[in-house]
Amino acid sequence: MGRYRIRVATGAWLFSGSHNRVQLWLVGARREAELELQLRPVRGEEEEFDLAVPEDLGTLQFVKLRKHHSLVDDAWFCDRITVQGPGACAEAAFPCYRWVQGGGVLSLPEGTARLAGDNALDVFQKHREKELKERQQIYRWATWKEGLPLTIAADCEDDLPPNMRFHEEKRRDFEWTLKAGALEMVLKRVYTLLSSWNRLEDFDQIFWGQKSTLAEKVHQRWQDDELFGYQFLNGANPMLLRRSTSLPSRLVLPSGTEELRAQLEKELQNGSLFEADFILLDGIPANVIRGEQQYLAAPLVMLKMEPSGKLLPLLIQIQPPKPSSQTPTLFLPSDPPLAWLLAKSWVRNSDFQLHQLQYHLLNTHLVAEVIAVATMRCLPGLHPVFKPLHTYNSSH
Ligand SMILES: [Fe+2]
Repeated sequence: MGRYRIRVATGAWLFSGSHNRVQLWLVGARREAELELQLRPVRGEEEEFDLAVPEDLGTLQFVKLRKHHSLVDDAWFCDRITVQGPGACAEAAFPCYRWVQGGGVLSLPEGTARLAGDNALDVFQKHREKELKERQQIYRWATWKEGLPLTIAADCEDDLPPNMRFHEEKRRDFEWTLKAGALEMVLKRVYTLLSSWNRLEDFDQIFWGQKSTLAEKVHQRWQDDELFGYQFLNGANPMLLRRSTSLPSRLVLPSGTEELRAQLEKELQNGSLFEADFILLDGIPANVIRGEQQYLAAPLVMLKMEPSGKLLPLLIQIQPPKPSSQTPTLFLPSDPPLAWLLAKSWVRNSDFQLHQLQYHLLNTHLVAEVIAVATMRCLPGLHPVFKPLHTYNSSH
């Protein structure tokens, strides 16, 4: 016989609460007891119950819970359950941090982090094995495209395990940003429908709506070489810039450019010569969008670092040399302004493509997905890695 104080914490996310009734059991080393309580979890609240249990349960090992429903299965996001008792015994925590849905019984083990070898008690080892079996049913591998990292088996968001989906706020925020962006584009399209763009200044017609100090600065300075160089370290893709250790082999300098070669060699000697080589994009077929063939360049940019720290472009080679064609054209800051600006725009386009494909999609999303799925399949909830990670699907 003993008194227990039970606290049930529900997530603060939208729709975390539930109108369904929740039933709880305390499971001790000796026996288990069903708790006589009326629990309908409220979003963001911690509900507390003080209950007498006639039997001696022994050391608490699990809290079992079951969410009942008749017509509507109203999912509940349970943060954790803590139990203090009997009497003055220390408090035990039973972390959950997941959606509770369906009519099954869920067992939450006492939450002290444990590795596989730490399960002195057989009950925890059995729970671990059962949990991993279930997880491997829920989190399954799929091949999206041969040669790419494996993905989770799901064709759309609704196929994802509930705990892998965005929380409602995040989903709404994401969708709203998407809609607001699309709306702005439609408005600008309508606004400029009757006018054609003949000069660069005509772009000002679409420079309104959401602005920031940085956007204003880029608007003023986007044609400057200084901003072009600055973007290699402070733009979307700071991964490509390298200090040159020799002149790149793809750089073919035609006759008549001896002065340029001398300058490159001088910067190289000084350690102030830099390069950004987009060769990875060479040979990638570009898409056809609405019947229009698109093009992709694989440029090389050579830059110098001035003593003030400014990074300035010295030349742009748009495509690498091909055995079949003549020496590729070099674009220089001394070229007619629009030709030089066009060459820089091709570089920016390639920078964006490489950033999205390689550094963003492959190196973050696709790799992170492999790690996330493997973690869910191979590590049980009691593994220490979940202690700092219980909110991981709210990021990015
Ligand atoms: Fe992303």
